[in-house]
Amino acid sequence: MAKHSLETSRLIVLLLMMLICFSDPAVAVADQFSKLQYLKNSLFRRELLSGSSTRNNSHSALQNGLVSLYDVTLYGADPTGRNDSTDAILSALSDAFNKRPGNETLITGVYDLGGAQIYLAGGTYTVSRPLRFPASGAGNVMIHGGTIKASDAFPTDGYLIDLTPPQNGKNGGAYNYEFVTLRDLLLDANFRGGGISITNSLRITIDNCYVTHFTTEGIISRGGHETYIHNSFLGQHITGGGDPGERNFSGTAITLAGNDNAVTDVVIFSAATGILISGQANLLTGVHCYNKATGFGGTGIYLKLPGLTQTRIVNCYMDYTGIVAEDPVQLLVANSFFLGDAYVSLKSVNGVIDGVSIVDNEFSGSNGQIGIVHLDQSKTPFKKIGSILVDRNAARMMKLKSTVARGMARGNGTSWTVDFNPILLLPNRIDHVQYSVRVDNSGLFPVHTLRKATDNTVVVESNVPVSASIYVSVEQGIK
Ligand SMILES: *[C@@H]1O[C@H](CO)[C@@H](O)[C@H](O)[C@H]1NC(C)=O
Ligand SMILES: *[C@@H]1O[C@H](CO)[C@@H](O)[C@H](O)[C@H]1NC(C)=O
Ligand SMILES: *[C@@H]1O[C@H](CO)[C@@H](O)[C@H](O)[C@H]1NC(C)=O
Ligand SMILES: *[C@@H]1O[C@H](CO)[C@@H](O)[C@H](O)[C@H]1NC(C)=O
Ligand SMILES: *[C@@H]1O[C@H](CO)[C@@H](O)[C@H](O)[C@H]1NC(C)=O
Repeated sequence: MAKHSLETSRLIVLLLMMLICFSDPAVAVADQFSKLQYLKNSLFRRELLSGSSTRNNSHSALQNGLVSLYDVTLYGADPTGRNDSTDAILSALSDAFNKRPGNETLITGVYDLGGAQIYLAGGTYTVSRPLRFPASGAGNVMIHGGTIKASDAFPTDGYLIDLTPPQNGKNGGAYNYEFVTLRDLLLDANFRGGGISITNSLRITIDNCYVTHFTTEGIISRGGHETYIHNSFLGQHITGGGDPGERNFSGTAITLAGNDNAVTDVVIFSAATGILISGQANLLTGVHCYNKATGFGGTGIYLKLPGLTQTRIVNCYMDYTGIVAEDPVQLLVANSFFLGDAYVSLKSVNGVIDGVSIVDNEFSGSNGQIGIVHLDQSKTPFKKIGSILVDRNAARMMKLKSTVARGMARGNGTSWTVDFNPILLLPNRIDHVQYSVRVDNSGLFPVHTLRKATDNTVVVESNVPVSASIYVSVEQGIK
């Protein structure tokens, strides 16, 4: 405390000096900046020193001190990755969890660890067992700054970092962990198991992580809510695309089996499935998937929650791999870019589709044969169709599909036909038609009527032969 106030007063004095000096133009500004720089450096150095002076294999100073920086190397973890560091890192974790400054809690049952940091000191650590969080609920803690790699003995069903309490994934409270940050980590599952598992937790941040060599999931979040995954890179195999082994890519980069999570600015560069979602109200934005091409059986984003999807996919980049949504109800796909014949597949499971908007996207393909949106009715047809809007998309070398269309027919006779089958997404369904007739010979006022609006075809007839053009707008999927 005393140290802090000393630094604070030094800072105030310096700021006052600066104020005085800046009001006097004769004093060189550069000099003041160098003084500021000196102060900054001295503060920074002290921080470093407080870490290194305790480097005497006694971490009790840190434990009993004001800081809660648990440098795993002080617990005997081997930053060269040669020796197994499982026990050392777990014991740092355990110390962090046992120190509860103020004995305060965040949400009920979750102790506030006061911003404790498990610091990996830029090393690479080999672990033979999951780094499973202690049973007691805790939060306000961070693991950061290094590489964790699974050894050949690592269990194939394990996760390198596991926020799952040992007892049935529950620790007593409504939520297990809250406000945990995993930052600046490279997680290498060594083709044994997965990267990060989160169970029934609240407000977990994964930021700037690189998760690779997983066989199950890169990251899985089950139950709870508000797992936020930002600025991260996930891939089973390390590749820059066009990998000769792409056909064999397996695993899922991110599984969200819970609600209200967000994946923001994330690249998925290899996995059979990029993101698998089975919870509601999740948000994906700025996600770039090139995990496994559709042609090789891969899926970029799979929404496996038929009947109540509530997912927003915006501003994403689907690169040779698409989106599959089972019985989508409340789904938004907008402002995204689909490259390499990638498309959105709406898959009927119980025949329900409602509240779907696929708008303002760009699609780019190779031969004009692939539709931008598919209805997969191989299991069962869509029977309960509510509102669905597919419109304002731009297709290049792909077949534009839409639920809103305009067309015209011109002729001399009593009947005009516009066939909307090439563009309308839903088969045999026109919910709304509007047409107008323009007669070429202005002397005539024929009687005309809409004869047919089935089979995605509109027919208009007149009582007398006339040379005319008809203009038609149709809409599908309006309740
Ligand atoms: C080693 O750690 C202890 C805390 O238990 C501390 O008192 C001591 O000053 C440290 N020694 C050195 C050389 O930093
Ligand atoms: C690795 O383990 C060996 C044998 O226990 C030990 O001698 C060595 O100091 C350890 N290396 C590190 C960096 O911890
Ligand atoms: C911490 O709080 C719990 C209840 O929230 C209480 O049972 C326990 O005695 C407290 N421990 C300390 C050291 O104050
Ligand atoms: C894919 O896997 C099969 C079966 O394991 C293997 O025979 C084949 O060589 C693999 N292909 C590539 C390109 O790695
Ligand atoms: C339309 O057809 C009728 C009879 O078939 C013909 O008399 C008339 O000139 C035609 N009008 C135009 C504009 O071609």
